[in-house]
Amino acid sequence: MTTIINNARRRFMVQSGLGLLALSGMPSFLQAMEGMAVMPRIPPRKANPNFKADVEFDLYCRPSQVAILKGAQTQVLQYSAVLKKGPKQTLVNIPGSYLGPLIHLQKGQKVRIVLHNGLSETTVTHWHGLHVPAEMDGHPMYAIDPGAALVYEFEVLNRAGMAIYHPHPHEATASQVYHGLAGALFVHDEEEAKLELPTGEHEIPIVIQDRLFDEQNQLIYARNKHDRMVGFYGDRILVNGLPDVKIDVASRAYRLRILNGSNARIYKLAWDDGTPITVLGVDGGLLEQPEIKAYVMLAPGERLDVWADFSGRSVGSQLVMRSLAFTGVLPKMAQRMGNMMHANQLPVGSDYPIFTIRVTEKVSDSPKLPAQLSSFPHYHINDVANPNKPMPISISEGPMAMLLNGRAYADNDVQDFERIKLNTLQLIEIFHAHGGMGMEHKGGGMGMGMGMGMGHKGGGMGMGMGMEHKEGGMGMMGGMMSMAHPIHLHGQQFQIISRSVSSDKTDDYETVRHGFIETGLKDTVLVMPGETVRIIKPFQDFKGVFMYHCHNLEHEDMGMMRDFSIE
Ligand code: C2O
Ligand code: CU
Ligand code: CU
Repeated sequence: MTTIINNARRRFMVQSGLGLLALSGMPSFLQAMEGMAVMPRIPPRKANPNFKADVEFDLYCRPSQVAILKGAQTQVLQYSAVLKKGPKQTLVNIPGSYLGPLIHLQKGQKVRIVLHNGLSETTVTHWHGLHVPAEMDGHPMYAIDPGAALVYEFEVLNRAGMAIYHPHPHEATASQVYHGLAGALFVHDEEEAKLELPTGEHEIPIVIQDRLFDEQNQLIYARNKHDRMVGFYGDRILVNGLPDVKIDVASRAYRLRILNGSNARIYKLAWDDGTPITVLGVDGGLLEQPEIKAYVMLAPGERLDVWADFSGRSVGSQLVMRSLAFTGVLPKMAQRMGNMMHANQLPVGSDYPIFTIRVTEKVSDSPKLPAQLSSFPHYHINDVANPNKPMPISISEGPMAMLLNGRAYADNDVQDFERIKLNTLQLIEIFHAHGGMGMEHKGGGMGMGMGMGMGHKGGGMGMGMGMEHKEGGMGMMGGMMSMAHPIHLHGQQFQIISRSVSSDKTDDYETVRHGFIETGLKDTVLVMPGETVRIIKPFQDFKGVFMYHCHNLEHEDMGMMRDFSIE
């Protein structure tokens, strides 16, 4: 009964929320943009008979239904796969989950995957985190029609780590992922094997997502302008596609392979009893040494490799992984509005449980945490091709649109500063284009100048800033200006070399600042409001067009995405 009332109220609030935005003069620029950009279509790639695959499988995506909540089954879209060649442990289904099978690959394997589009719309699959040729990377221009098939062939060049596979079609990534199309992909190598980390039943994948259901247990994904600006949030946390997850363990060490597969929600992960999180690795694989953190921030697209030792815990005891409270990732007005709307039961940055560990078995021995995990080259500013002219990734957030480098995604729109010489290391600076630009980037190189200029070209920036200082109705638009964005670059993983935050954002920043891991190899980095992040990224082996974008999937589909071209 209560749920029905809540849902009815929710719908009312959504509608009135929309009305509020329309009244406050939200420009129809976004709607105008939608459907304007038409992607070129490249005929689906066929198998190359000279490519000798070690592993080969068919990957299907199609409508399906699964039991998620009590009662009616939920209509979803789902990946499934059939192995044609290779070790049978390559594909592992997660029972009862809408998620695609876990894919286990070995470094050095040659892999052929045939994607079959069983949807009623175009799709293409991207291997987020894998270093593959441009034409194998799932760029939207390779999207295929319903009923068509697309052949991917690549060699696994990555070191051991956790990657994600998910759709990447133009303007439809968010809804396809939301409805269930995503899966975890693991690369294994000898360096990892030597460590004898917990494996088999002691290595547990944990894909965290949030979803919103209607009274018939069906997924709600009705984006309004508010959702597009701040991202779509559900009111229920799912782990591996299921709610209220409890994991039974023995009193020994486990390896948890965590992925934030949510469209927009950012988590501040911590154990509820104050046990620190022992981090083994991040997006691009193992760290050099384990790192001990009170909490870890995990934004959409980011992965976390955790050592969780339950030795010494008694049978019957529990441990909960929670998301702790934090502030600042959403503009204050948007946060308030979001709370009124569908995320009312689970506000972004509130404190809530994610999953529960139950110790159900006593065992006497457990593997020991290795002191040394791995080694990888450290990128240094002296080795980059552009030490004084960082490639800019300027974030502009405004009432008009969410943009990168002042431009919305467009096909065949690579700018000079997005052209990168093959086999170079590049310094890249990610920053917010509005507010404090003059101060933060004073004396910056040419790259900065370009970022600044284009930020203003995006339109409406100055106006938005002015409004931020105004009280009342219009203040909301200004409040839209500042939020956190998980910025993702396709291709090889990068290293974070510095982070700095503007002085007016330090209070919010304090609530998250100890949750970042800077020592590993990353492909997605959370950039907080007022924050500037410098990274060094290699661009080796493959020429061609790759993408960089915000991994808030609603932002990505709005055009907060660009191509870079390796030449
Ligand atoms: Cu996880 Cu371009 O994506
Ligand atoms: Cu990616
Ligand atoms: Cu974003």
